[in-house]
Amino acid sequence: MTLKAKMIVDKDFAISEIDNRIYGSFIEHLGRAVYNGIYEPGHQSADESGFRSDVMEMIRELQVPIVRYPGGNFVSGYNWEDTVGPKELRKRRLELAWRVVETNQFGFNEFVDWSKKANSEVMMAVNLGTRGADDARNLIEYSNHPGGSYWSDLRRSHGYEQPHNIKTWCLGNEMDGPWQIGAKTATEYGRLAVETAKVMKWVDPTIELVACGSSGLGMPTFPEWESTVLDHTYDHVEYLSLHQYYGNQENDTPTFLARSLQMEEFIRTVAATCDYMKAKKRSKKKMLLSFDEWNVWYHSNAADSKREPWDIAPPQLEDIYNHEDALVVGTMLIAMLKHSDRVRMACMAQLVNVIAPIMTSNGGGAWRQTIFYPYLHASLFGRGKALVPLVQSSKYDTKEITDVPYLESIAVYNEEKSEVTIFAVNRHLEEQLPVEIDLRSFGECSIIEHIVMENDDLKAVNTELEPNRVAPHNRGNASVDGSTIQAKLAKASWNVIRVKV
Ligand code: AHR
Repeated sequence: MTLKAKMIVDKDFAISEIDNRIYGSFIEHLGRAVYNGIYEPGHQSADESGFRSDVMEMIRELQVPIVRYPGGNFVSGYNWEDTVGPKELRKRRLELAWRVVETNQFGFNEFVDWSKKANSEVMMAVNLGTRGADDARNLIEYSNHPGGSYWSDLRRSHGYEQPHNIKTWCLGNEMDGPWQIGAKTATEYGRLAVETAKVMKWVDPTIELVACGSSGLGMPTFPEWESTVLDHTYDHVEYLSLHQYYGNQENDTPTFLARSLQMEEFIRTVAATCDYMKAKKRSKKKMLLSFDEWNVWYHSNAADSKREPWDIAPPQLEDIYNHEDALVVGTMLIAMLKHSDRVRMACMAQLVNVIAPIMTSNGGGAWRQTIFYPYLHASLFGRGKALVPLVQSSKYDTKEITDVPYLESIAVYNEEKSEVTIFAVNRHLEEQLPVEIDLRSFGECSIIEHIVMENDDLKAVNTELEPNRVAPHNRGNASVDGSTIQAKLAKASWNVIRVKV
Protein backbone atom coordinates (compact mmCIF):
# COMPACT_ATOMS: atom_id res chain seq x y z
CA MET A 1 0.00 0.00 0.00
CA THR A 2 1.33 3.46 -0.90
CA LEU A 3 1.04 5.72 2.05
CA LYS A 4 -0.18 9.25 1.50
CA ALA A 5 -2.14 12.03 3.08
CA LYS A 6 -3.64 15.32 2.03
CA MET A 7 -4.93 18.18 4.07
CA ILE A 8 -6.91 21.22 2.92
CA VAL A 9 -6.94 24.29 5.12
CA ASP A 10 -8.99 27.41 4.42
CA LYS A 11 -8.98 30.55 6.53
CA ASP A 12 -12.74 30.94 6.11
CA PHE A 13 -13.39 27.57 7.74
CA ALA A 14 -12.53 28.25 11.35
CA ILE A 15 -13.50 25.99 14.24
CA SER A 16 -13.04 28.75 16.77
CA GLU A 17 -10.74 31.34 18.25
CA ILE A 18 -8.58 29.26 20.58
CA ASP A 19 -8.83 30.12 24.26
CA ASN A 20 -5.19 30.21 25.38
CA ARG A 21 -6.20 28.62 28.68
CA ILE A 22 -6.25 25.23 26.95
CA TYR A 23 -2.48 25.32 27.51
CA GLY A 24 -2.95 25.30 31.28
CA SER A 25 -1.40 22.90 33.74
CA PHE A 26 -1.80 21.57 37.25
CA ILE A 27 0.12 21.56 40.53
CA GLU A 28 -1.24 19.23 43.21
CA HIS A 29 0.07 18.69 46.72
CA LEU A 30 1.25 15.27 45.67
CA GLY A 31 4.66 13.63 45.65
CA ARG A 32 7.40 16.10 44.77
CA ALA A 33 5.27 18.52 42.73
CA VAL A 34 5.31 21.27 45.36
CA TYR A 35 8.06 20.22 47.77
CA ASN A 36 11.36 19.82 45.87
CA GLY A 37 9.51 20.64 42.66
CA ILE A 38 8.42 24.26 42.52
CA TYR A 39 9.46 24.95 46.14
CA GLU A 40 12.79 24.00 47.64
CA PRO A 41 14.17 26.51 50.14
CA GLY A 42 17.90 25.93 50.42
CA HIS A 43 18.25 24.89 46.79
CA GLN A 44 20.98 26.85 45.00
CA SER A 45 18.43 28.31 42.57
CA ALA A 46 15.80 29.15 45.24
CA ASP A 47 14.63 32.77 45.38
CA GLU A 48 13.74 34.67 48.58
CA SER A 49 10.41 32.77 48.78
CA GLY A 50 12.05 29.36 48.34
CA PHE A 51 10.74 28.98 44.76
CA ARG A 52 13.17 27.14 42.47
CA SER A 53 14.10 29.57 39.70
CA ASP A 54 15.50 26.85 37.41
CA VAL A 55 12.02 25.28 37.39
CA MET A 56 10.35 28.68 37.14
CA GLU A 57 12.33 29.46 33.99
CA MET A 58 11.16 26.28 32.29
CA ILE A 59 7.56 27.03 33.26
CA ARG A 60 7.86 30.54 31.85
CA GLU A 61 9.30 29.04 28.68
CA LEU A 62 6.08 26.99 28.38
CA GLN A 63 3.94 30.14 28.81
CA VAL A 64 1.42 28.36 31.02
CA PRO A 65 -1.64 30.62 31.16
CA ILE A 66 -3.44 28.99 34.11
CA VAL A 67 -2.50 26.46 36.81
CA ARG A 68 -5.00 24.34 38.73
CA TYR A 69 -4.36 23.96 42.49
CA PRO A 70 -4.22 22.31 45.10
CA GLY A 71 -5.69 19.07 43.70
CA GLY A 72 -6.74 16.63 42.42
CA ASN A 73 -7.60 14.01 44.98
CA PHE A 74 -5.74 16.06 47.58
CA VAL A 75 -8.39 18.79 47.57
CA SER A 76 -11.05 16.44 48.92
CA GLY A 77 -9.36 16.49 52.36
CA TYR A 78 -7.96 20.05 52.13
CA ASN A 79 -8.24 22.37 55.11
CA TRP A 80 -7.09 25.61 53.54
CA GLU A 81 -6.91 27.43 56.93
CA ASP A 82 -4.02 25.11 57.88
CA THR A 83 -2.01 26.57 55.03
CA VAL A 84 -2.13 30.32 55.74
CA GLY A 85 -0.52 32.59 58.35
CA PRO A 86 2.82 32.16 60.10
CA LYS A 87 4.59 29.04 58.86
CA GLU A 88 5.77 28.00 62.33
CA LEU A 89 2.15 27.71 63.49
CA ARG A 90 0.99 25.58 60.59
CA LYS A 91 -0.21 22.08 61.42
CA ARG A 92 1.21 18.89 60.01
CA ARG A 93 -1.60 16.66 58.80
CA LEU A 94 -2.06 13.10 57.64
CA GLU A 95 -2.97 13.49 53.99
CA LEU A 96 -5.30 10.63 53.12
CA ALA A 97 -5.58 10.91 49.33
CA TRP A 98 -1.94 9.98 48.80
CA ARG A 99 -1.18 8.72 52.35
CA VAL A 100 1.67 11.07 53.19
CA VAL A 101 2.35 13.72 55.83
CA GLU A 102 1.56 17.26 54.64
CA THR A 103 3.66 19.92 56.41
CA ASN A 104 1.70 22.89 55.02
CA GLN A 105 4.92 24.89 54.69
CA PHE A 106 3.72 25.87 51.24
CA GLY A 107 0.14 27.08 51.26
CA PHE A 108 -2.57 29.02 49.49
CA ASN A 109 -0.91 32.47 49.59
CA GLU A 110 2.46 31.06 48.57
CA PHE A 111 0.79 29.49 45.55
CA VAL A 112 -0.78 32.81 44.55
CA ASP A 113 2.67 34.46 44.86
CA TRP A 114 4.28 31.67 42.86
CA SER A 115 1.67 31.92 40.07
CA LYS A 116 2.28 35.62 39.67
CA LYS A 117 5.98 34.96 39.20
CA ALA A 118 5.15 32.21 36.71
CA ASN A 119 2.88 34.62 34.75
CA SER A 120 -0.05 32.24 35.28
CA GLU A 121 -3.60 32.65 36.54
CA VAL A 122 -4.84 30.42 39.37
CA MET A 123 -7.61 27.84 38.89
CA MET A 124 -8.50 27.12 42.51
CA ALA A 125 -10.41 24.03 43.64
CA VAL A 126 -12.61 23.86 46.75
CA ASN A 127 -13.03 20.81 48.97
CA LEU A 128 -16.39 19.11 48.36
CA GLY A 129 -15.16 15.80 49.79
CA THR A 130 -14.93 16.34 53.55
CA ARG A 131 -16.29 19.89 53.40
CA GLY A 132 -18.85 21.95 51.51
CA ALA A 133 -20.57 25.29 51.02
CA ASP A 134 -19.51 26.81 54.36
CA ASP A 135 -15.82 26.19 53.78
CA ALA A 136 -16.02 27.37 50.16
CA ARG A 137 -17.71 30.66 51.07
CA ASN A 138 -15.04 31.30 53.73
CA LEU A 139 -12.21 30.60 51.31
CA ILE A 140 -13.58 32.90 48.65
CA GLU A 141 -14.15 35.62 51.23
CA TYR A 142 -10.53 35.20 52.36
CA SER A 143 -9.30 35.22 48.78
CA ASN A 144 -11.44 37.71 46.88
CA HIS A 145 -13.21 40.06 49.29
CA PRO A 146 -11.42 43.42 49.66
CA GLY A 147 -11.73 43.76 53.46
CA GLY A 148 -13.95 44.65 56.41
CA SER A 149 -15.01 41.08 57.20
CA TYR A 150 -13.44 38.35 59.36
CA TRP A 151 -11.86 36.25 56.59
CA SER A 152 -10.82 39.10 54.30
CA ASP A 153 -9.22 40.92 57.25
CA LEU A 154 -7.43 37.71 58.19
CA ARG A 155 -5.89 37.70 54.70
CA ARG A 156 -4.82 41.32 55.17
CA SER A 157 -3.27 40.43 58.53
CA HIS A 158 -1.29 37.77 56.69
CA GLY A 159 0.32 40.46 54.56
CA TYR A 160 -2.01 40.45 51.55
CA GLU A 161 -3.72 43.84 51.60
CA GLN A 162 -5.17 43.41 48.11
CA PRO A 163 -7.61 40.58 47.31
CA HIS A 164 -6.25 37.78 45.15
CA ASN A 165 -9.23 38.08 42.78
CA ILE A 166 -9.05 34.48 41.62
CA LYS A 167 -11.54 34.17 38.81
CA THR A 168 -11.78 30.44 38.12
CA TRP A 169 -12.89 27.87 40.72
CA CYS A 170 -13.45 24.10 40.54
CA LEU A 171 -16.31 22.66 42.59
CA GLY A 172 -14.43 19.66 43.99
CA ASN A 173 -12.54 16.97 42.11
CA GLU A 174 -13.53 13.61 40.59
CA MET A 175 -16.45 13.23 42.95
CA ASP A 176 -17.68 10.17 40.98
CA GLY A 177 -14.56 8.14 41.84
CA PRO A 178 -14.76 5.57 44.68
CA TRP A 179 -11.10 6.48 45.47
CA GLN A 180 -12.12 10.05 46.26
CA ILE A 181 -12.31 11.17 49.91
CA GLY A 182 -16.03 11.84 50.33
CA ALA A 183 -17.07 10.41 46.92
CA LYS A 184 -20.70 11.04 46.06
CA THR A 185 -23.52 9.90 43.84
CA ALA A 186 -24.38 12.27 41.01
CA THR A 187 -27.43 13.54 42.89
CA GLU A 188 -25.53 14.09 46.14
CA TYR A 189 -22.78 15.93 44.27
CA GLY A 190 -25.17 17.91 42.06
CA ARG A 191 -27.05 19.22 45.10
CA LEU A 192 -23.88 20.09 46.99
CA ALA A 193 -22.29 21.72 43.94
CA VAL A 194 -25.25 23.97 43.24
CA GLU A 195 -25.55 25.13 46.84
CA THR A 196 -21.83 25.80 46.97
CA ALA A 197 -21.93 27.66 43.65
CA LYS A 198 -24.72 29.90 44.95
CA VAL A 199 -22.89 31.05 48.07
CA MET A 200 -19.57 31.46 46.26
CA LYS A 201 -21.17 33.71 43.66
CA TRP A 202 -23.01 35.64 46.36
CA VAL A 203 -19.59 36.51 47.81
CA ASP A 204 -18.07 37.27 44.38
CA PRO A 205 -20.44 37.32 41.38
CA THR A 206 -17.54 37.77 38.92
CA ILE A 207 -16.14 34.25 39.35
CA GLU A 208 -16.51 31.34 36.92
CA LEU A 209 -17.17 27.81 38.13
CA VAL A 210 -16.30 24.34 36.89
CA ALA A 211 -18.52 21.40 37.90
CA CYS A 212 -17.05 17.90 38.03
CA GLY A 213 -17.78 15.68 35.08
CA SER A 214 -16.71 12.04 35.03
CA SER A 215 -13.19 10.98 36.02
CA GLY A 216 -12.78 9.36 32.63
CA LEU A 217 -14.53 7.84 29.68
CA GLY A 218 -14.39 4.39 31.30
CA MET A 219 -16.37 5.28 34.44
CA PRO A 220 -19.49 3.09 34.81
CA THR A 221 -21.60 6.16 35.63
CA PHE A 222 -20.56 8.05 32.46
CA PRO A 223 -22.52 9.87 30.91
CA GLU A 224 -25.47 9.60 33.30
CA TRP A 225 -23.26 11.43 35.83
CA GLU A 226 -22.93 14.45 33.51
CA SER A 227 -26.63 14.57 32.84
CA THR A 228 -27.66 14.39 36.54
CA VAL A 229 -25.00 16.85 37.69
CA LEU A 230 -25.97 19.35 34.99
CA ASP A 231 -29.63 18.97 35.81
CA HIS A 232 -28.79 20.48 39.20
CA THR A 233 -26.04 22.91 38.25
CA TYR A 234 -26.67 24.07 34.66
CA ASP A 235 -27.70 27.62 35.53
CA HIS A 236 -24.97 28.08 38.12
CA VAL A 237 -21.73 26.95 36.45
CA GLU A 238 -19.87 27.92 33.28
CA TYR A 239 -17.83 24.75 32.66
CA LEU A 240 -18.06 20.99 33.03
CA SER A 241 -14.80 19.10 33.56
CA LEU A 242 -13.33 16.11 31.71
CA HIS A 243 -10.36 14.01 32.86
CA GLN A 244 -8.54 11.38 30.82
CA TYR A 245 -5.20 9.57 31.07
CA TYR A 246 -3.80 6.98 28.67
CA GLY A 247 -1.15 4.29 29.05
CA ASN A 248 0.56 1.65 26.95
CA GLN A 249 0.39 -1.18 29.49
CA GLU A 250 -0.06 -3.79 26.72
CA ASN A 251 2.88 -2.43 24.73
CA ASP A 252 0.52 -2.04 21.78
CA THR A 253 1.82 1.22 20.33
CA PRO A 254 -0.52 1.44 17.30
CA THR A 255 -3.51 1.38 19.68
CA PHE A 256 -1.81 3.74 22.14
CA LEU A 257 -1.25 6.25 19.33
CA ALA A 258 -4.92 6.00 18.34
CA ARG A 259 -6.31 6.81 21.81
CA SER A 260 -6.83 10.47 20.89
CA LEU A 261 -9.72 9.34 18.68
CA GLN A 262 -11.43 8.06 21.81
CA MET A 263 -10.62 11.33 23.54
CA GLU A 264 -12.44 13.15 20.74
CA GLU A 265 -15.42 10.82 21.13
CA PHE A 266 -15.40 11.63 24.85
CA ILE A 267 -15.47 15.39 24.13
CA ARG A 268 -18.28 14.95 21.58
CA THR A 269 -20.39 12.91 24.00
CA VAL A 270 -19.95 15.35 26.87
CA ALA A 271 -20.80 18.28 24.56
CA ALA A 272 -23.91 16.42 23.37
CA THR A 273 -24.96 15.77 26.97
CA CYS A 274 -24.51 19.48 27.75
CA ASP A 275 -26.61 20.41 24.73
CA TYR A 276 -29.34 17.95 25.73
CA MET A 277 -29.48 19.64 29.12
CA LYS A 278 -29.49 23.07 27.48
CA ALA A 279 -32.61 22.03 25.55
CA LYS A 280 -34.20 20.49 28.62
CA LYS A 281 -33.65 23.69 30.61
CA ARG A 282 -34.76 25.96 27.72
CA SER A 283 -31.47 27.73 28.43
CA LYS A 284 -29.63 30.18 26.22
CA LYS A 285 -26.31 29.33 27.80
CA LYS A 286 -23.77 27.12 26.03
CA MET A 287 -21.98 24.96 28.60
CA LEU A 288 -18.22 25.05 28.00
CA LEU A 289 -15.73 22.31 28.77
CA SER A 290 -12.64 22.30 30.96
CA PHE A 291 -10.37 19.33 30.20
CA ASP A 292 -8.66 19.95 33.49
CA GLU A 293 -6.67 16.69 33.72
CA TRP A 294 -5.11 15.00 30.72
CA ASN A 295 -1.86 13.20 29.99
CA VAL A 296 -0.14 9.83 29.71
CA TRP A 297 0.05 8.09 33.09
CA TYR A 298 1.11 4.51 33.71
CA HIS A 299 4.90 4.12 33.97
CA SER A 300 4.94 4.78 37.73
CA ASN A 301 1.96 2.62 38.74
CA ALA A 302 4.02 -0.40 39.84
CA ALA A 303 6.50 1.65 41.92
CA ASP A 304 3.68 3.57 43.59
CA SER A 305 1.87 0.39 44.61
CA LYS A 306 4.92 -0.65 46.68
CA ARG A 307 5.40 2.60 48.59
CA GLU A 308 5.03 2.75 52.39
CA PRO A 309 2.71 5.48 53.78
CA TRP A 310 3.36 8.67 55.79
CA ASP A 311 6.55 10.00 54.22
CA ILE A 312 6.92 13.71 53.49
CA ALA A 313 6.99 14.49 49.76
CA PRO A 314 8.11 11.05 48.55
CA PRO A 315 8.48 10.40 44.82
CA GLN A 316 4.99 9.55 43.57
CA LEU A 317 3.57 9.29 40.05
CA GLU A 318 7.05 9.95 38.64
CA ASP A 319 6.48 8.75 35.10
CA ILE A 320 9.60 8.89 32.96
CA TYR A 321 8.26 9.67 29.52
CA ASN A 322 9.54 8.21 26.27
CA HIS A 323 9.30 9.23 22.64
CA GLU A 324 5.98 7.49 21.94
CA ASP A 325 4.40 9.20 24.97
CA ALA A 326 5.32 12.56 23.41
CA LEU A 327 3.48 11.52 20.24
CA VAL A 328 0.38 10.62 22.24
CA VAL A 329 0.54 13.97 24.03
CA GLY A 330 0.80 15.65 20.61
CA THR A 331 -2.32 13.84 19.39
CA MET A 332 -4.19 14.76 22.60
CA LEU A 333 -3.33 18.44 22.07
CA ILE A 334 -4.56 18.18 18.47
CA ALA A 335 -7.78 16.54 19.71
CA MET A 336 -8.47 19.48 22.01
CA LEU A 337 -7.67 22.02 19.28
CA LYS A 338 -10.15 20.24 16.99
CA HIS A 339 -12.79 20.90 19.65
CA SER A 340 -11.62 24.35 20.70
CA ASP A 341 -15.14 25.71 20.22
CA ARG A 342 -16.14 23.75 23.37
CA VAL A 343 -12.90 23.03 25.22
CA ARG A 344 -11.97 26.44 26.61
CA MET A 345 -9.66 25.38 29.42
CA ALA A 346 -7.41 22.38 29.85
CA CYS A 347 -4.65 21.38 32.24
CA MET A 348 -1.84 19.05 31.39
CA ALA A 349 -1.64 16.96 34.56
CA GLN A 350 0.71 17.80 35.99
CA LEU A 351 3.58 20.32 35.72
CA VAL A 352 6.58 19.26 37.81
CA ASN A 353 7.77 15.76 38.89
CA VAL A 354 4.28 14.25 39.14
CA ILE A 355 3.34 12.89 35.66
CA ALA A 356 5.03 16.00 34.41
CA PRO A 357 6.90 17.63 31.53
CA ILE A 358 9.52 18.96 33.98
CA MET A 359 11.57 16.79 36.35
CA THR A 360 13.90 17.79 39.17
CA SER A 361 16.23 16.04 41.54
CA ASN A 362 16.30 17.14 45.18
CA GLY A 363 19.16 19.60 45.53
CA GLY A 364 20.08 18.94 41.89
CA GLY A 365 19.06 19.90 38.38
CA ALA A 366 15.86 20.27 36.40
CA TRP A 367 15.29 18.81 32.94
CA ARG A 368 12.70 18.56 30.21
CA GLN A 369 10.88 15.27 29.63
CA THR A 370 9.89 14.21 26.10
CA ILE A 371 6.31 15.44 26.58
CA PHE A 372 7.61 18.94 27.33
CA TYR A 373 8.12 19.59 23.62
CA PRO A 374 4.69 19.06 22.03
CA TYR A 375 3.21 20.99 24.96
CA LEU A 376 5.72 23.82 24.41
CA HIS A 377 5.10 23.98 20.66
CA ALA A 378 1.33 24.00 21.04
CA SER A 379 1.49 26.69 23.70
CA LEU A 380 3.84 28.92 21.70
CA PHE A 381 2.51 28.43 18.19
CA GLY A 382 -1.06 27.22 18.77
CA ARG A 383 -2.56 30.62 19.52
CA GLY A 384 -5.06 32.12 17.09
CA LYS A 385 -7.87 30.41 15.19
CA ALA A 386 -8.13 26.64 14.82
CA LEU A 387 -9.03 25.79 11.22
CA VAL A 388 -11.16 22.83 10.15
CA PRO A 389 -8.74 20.07 9.09
CA LEU A 390 -10.05 18.39 5.93
CA VAL A 391 -7.80 15.34 5.95
CA GLN A 392 -7.61 12.37 3.63
CA SER A 393 -5.11 9.84 4.89
CA SER A 394 -4.20 6.19 4.58
CA LYS A 395 -5.58 4.36 7.59
CA TYR A 396 -4.95 1.35 9.80
CA ASP A 397 -6.96 -0.85 12.15
CA THR A 398 -6.09 -2.20 15.56
CA LYS A 399 -8.03 -4.86 17.47
CA GLU A 400 -9.73 -2.15 19.47
CA ILE A 401 -9.84 0.93 17.24
CA THR A 402 -10.51 0.94 13.49
CA ASP A 403 -10.06 3.48 10.70
CA VAL A 404 -7.15 5.24 12.36
CA PRO A 405 -5.63 7.83 10.00
CA TYR A 406 -1.83 7.75 9.90
CA LEU A 407 -1.94 11.53 9.74
CA GLU A 408 -3.30 13.38 12.76
CA SER A 409 -3.21 17.12 12.24
CA ILE A 410 -4.67 20.58 12.74
CA ALA A 411 -3.78 24.06 11.50
CA VAL A 412 -3.83 27.24 13.57
CA TYR A 413 -4.03 30.67 11.95
CA ASN A 414 -2.48 33.57 13.81
CA GLU A 415 -3.78 36.58 11.89
CA GLU A 416 -1.77 39.13 13.88
CA LYS A 417 1.51 37.45 13.03
CA SER A 418 0.42 36.34 9.53
CA GLU A 419 1.38 32.79 10.39
CA VAL A 420 -0.21 29.40 9.95
CA THR A 421 1.13 26.55 12.06
CA ILE A 422 0.41 22.95 11.18
CA PHE A 423 0.74 20.42 13.98
CA ALA A 424 0.98 16.88 12.64
CA VAL A 425 1.74 13.39 13.91
CA ASN A 426 2.68 10.51 11.64
CA ARG A 427 1.32 7.44 13.44
CA HIS A 428 3.14 5.01 11.13
CA LEU A 429 5.87 3.25 13.09
CA GLU A 430 7.93 2.06 10.10
CA GLU A 431 7.45 4.46 7.20
CA GLN A 432 7.56 8.12 6.40
CA LEU A 433 4.27 9.69 5.33
CA PRO A 434 4.16 11.97 2.26
CA VAL A 435 1.74 14.81 2.98
CA GLU A 436 0.37 17.56 0.79
CA ILE A 437 -1.10 20.58 2.57
CA ASP A 438 -3.23 22.87 0.46
CA LEU A 439 -3.39 26.39 1.92
CA ARG A 440 -5.42 27.65 -1.07
CA SER A 441 -6.97 30.71 0.54
CA PHE A 442 -3.68 32.10 1.84
CA GLY A 443 -1.94 32.91 -1.48
CA GLU A 444 1.88 32.82 -1.62
CA CYS A 445 3.35 31.17 1.47
CA SER A 446 6.86 30.57 2.77
CA ILE A 447 8.14 28.08 5.33
CA ILE A 448 9.44 29.65 8.54
CA GLU A 449 10.60 26.33 9.95
CA HIS A 450 9.66 22.68 10.13
CA ILE A 451 10.27 21.35 13.63
CA VAL A 452 10.45 17.56 13.98
CA MET A 453 10.61 15.22 16.95
CA GLU A 454 11.69 11.81 15.75
CA ASN A 455 13.59 8.94 17.29
CA ASP A 456 14.50 5.44 16.14
CA ASP A 457 13.78 4.20 19.64
CA LEU A 458 10.14 4.68 20.65
CA LYS A 459 11.13 4.00 24.25
CA ALA A 460 13.97 6.57 24.40
CA VAL A 461 13.78 8.90 27.42
CA ASN A 462 15.52 11.98 28.83
CA THR A 463 17.27 11.79 32.20
CA GLU A 464 19.23 14.18 34.40
CA LEU A 465 22.47 12.76 32.94
CA GLU A 466 21.21 12.68 29.37
CA PRO A 467 18.60 15.47 29.23
CA ASN A 468 18.57 15.97 25.45
CA ARG A 469 18.35 12.43 24.15
CA VAL A 470 14.83 13.07 22.85
CA ALA A 471 14.52 16.63 21.61
CA PRO A 472 13.19 18.36 18.52
CA HIS A 473 15.27 19.73 15.64
CA ASN A 474 14.18 22.15 12.95
CA ARG A 475 15.63 20.41 9.92
CA GLY A 476 12.30 19.07 8.64
CA ASN A 477 11.86 18.73 4.88
CA ALA A 478 8.66 20.76 4.29
CA SER A 479 8.79 22.81 1.09
CA VAL A 480 6.27 25.14 -0.51
CA ASP A 481 5.21 25.95 -4.04
CA GLY A 482 2.74 28.85 -4.06
CA SER A 483 0.31 27.80 -1.40
CA THR A 484 0.89 24.05 -1.51
CA ILE A 485 3.19 22.46 1.02
CA GLN A 486 4.82 19.11 0.51
CA ALA A 487 6.48 17.24 3.35
CA LYS A 488 7.58 13.72 4.12
CA LEU A 489 6.80 13.20 7.78
CA ALA A 490 9.32 10.91 9.44
CA LYS A 491 7.99 7.64 10.88
CA ALA A 492 6.52 8.04 14.37
CA SER A 493 7.11 11.77 14.45
CA TRP A 494 5.68 15.00 15.85
CA ASN A 495 5.85 17.90 13.40
CA VAL A 496 5.33 21.63 13.62
CA ILE A 497 5.31 23.31 10.20
CA ARG A 498 5.33 27.09 10.61
CA VAL A 499 4.29 29.04 7.53
CA LYS A 500 4.35 32.76 6.77
CA VAL A 501 1.20 33.72 4.88
O1 AHR B 1 -3.31 13.85 38.55
C1 AHR B 1 -3.27 12.76 39.43
C2 AHR B 1 -4.64 12.39 39.97
O2 AHR B 1 -5.41 11.89 38.92
C3 AHR B 1 -5.46 13.51 40.52
O3 AHR B 1 -5.17 13.77 41.86
C4 AHR B 1 -6.86 12.98 40.39
O4 AHR B 1 -7.79 14.01 40.23
C5 AHR B 1 -6.79 12.04 39.21
O5 AHR B 1 -7.33 10.81 39.50
